[in-house]
Amino acid sequence: MKKNILIVGGGGREHAIAWKLRRSAQVGKIYCAPGNAGTAEIAENVDISATDLDGIVDFVLKHSDIYMTVVAPDDPLALGLVDRLEAKGLRAFGPRSEAAVIEASKVFSKGLMKKYGIPTADYETFDDYEKAREYIETCKLPVVIKADGLALGKGVLICPTRREAFDGLKEIMEDKAFGNAGRRVVIEDVLTGFEVSVLAFTDGETVVPMVSSQDHKRALDGDKGLNTGGMGTFSPSLKYTPDMAAEAYESIFVPTVRAMKAENRTFKGVLYFGLMVCPDGIKVLEYNARFGDPETQVVLPRLKNDLFEIFEACIDGTLDKIKFMWSDEACVCVVAASGGYPLKYQKGIPIRIGDVGDCMLFHAGTAVSNGQLVTNGGRVIGVTAMGRNLAEARTKAYKGISNIYFDGMHYRRDICAL
Ligand code: AMP
Ligand code: GLY
Repeated sequence: MKKNILIVGGGGREHAIAWKLRRSAQVGKIYCAPGNAGTAEIAENVDISATDLDGIVDFVLKHSDIYMTVVAPDDPLALGLVDRLEAKGLRAFGPRSEAAVIEASKVFSKGLMKKYGIPTADYETFDDYEKAREYIETCKLPVVIKADGLALGKGVLICPTRREAFDGLKEIMEDKAFGNAGRRVVIEDVLTGFEVSVLAFTDGETVVPMVSSQDHKRALDGDKGLNTGGMGTFSPSLKYTPDMAAEAYESIFVPTVRAMKAENRTFKGVLYFGLMVCPDGIKVLEYNARFGDPETQVVLPRLKNDLFEIFEACIDGTLDKIKFMWSDEACVCVVAASGGYPLKYQKGIPIRIGDVGDCMLFHAGTAVSNGQLVTNGGRVIGVTAMGRNLAEARTKAYKGISNIYFDGMHYRRDICAL
């Protein structure tokens, strides 16, 4: 008997998860809430927003055919959607809110790392604006200021000068640029080295890192412009050697999962490690309590296993029984974004798709209006290609994106320019 699944979310990540689950012989119908025009082709979209917890719980209760709900975005995880589903006896993939706090509060995650000796940048936390100002008067520069809570990936300021640090602190704590997320701040030392993202499956005991990836967060070429959710990714990171992976596993991945268990916050789901490989060792920049977007778009295509079986094992605590298999091929994803993104942009602009070869198109902000595919968000489509190596995958992805058109479209030309 095939199993029906509800995926909560509507971005490129959710399209990639749906695409991968579609390839499982065990999966029947897939629902997506709210989904996008891409998920509509392989799943049934349900018009409920990812943060409408009542609406989602109600929908699952009314659809007894749904075997499992996969909660992909940060907000519903932090708000406790998994807890709510479990309280009704429903099966859900993702951490409970008590564990999702590892992403939802940087004050929490820094405290966890300090208590359990997990390497990260030295830091102080503040809930008092004046005290934070005083600290900045004499701290080392550059300095990093982070809003405590969820801020769409934009609550981190790297300040080269004291002036910028004062302005940034005011923006977060006084002007409330990120609302309540900025009630408290973490002020930390800058780390230098290179960044790598490692997503890992965990059932609370066993932790299995996926293949590595690298994200491009700035809007413009040469890492210029504003921070975005991510303008492109590639996998693997060539600089992240097997020795480094072993170090990160021993000093970061396993200790983090153990620490969460020791705190009675057992983490089940996908734990995302944002790492900086520094000259004196690998350190944690951030944790996310979920699949990354767009990291997922380059990692899942390389996974040879049945994703549904992995979700089952994470929930049931049997991850140690699964033999993981990854493709040796490389994968590159370039995001086509709306004109103006990450600031104001228009929606409803018609999209034309020409011949994209064997690229996979993971939709993010798309919808269908009067039979026409139109833009419906800042990041619109991720054009993803596999290749024997990164250079080949990159060439294919750029060839693919050159055949996608909409007014105002922009994309970075230097994704995976090694
Ligand atoms: P976060 O949301 O904490 O990952 O921060 C977003 C980005 O800011 C990271 O991907 C890094 O590029 C950068 N960043 C965060 N913390 C630091 C740090 N301590 N030193 C240098 N860069 C950082
Ligand atoms: N691309 C970074 C994130 O998903 O948080």
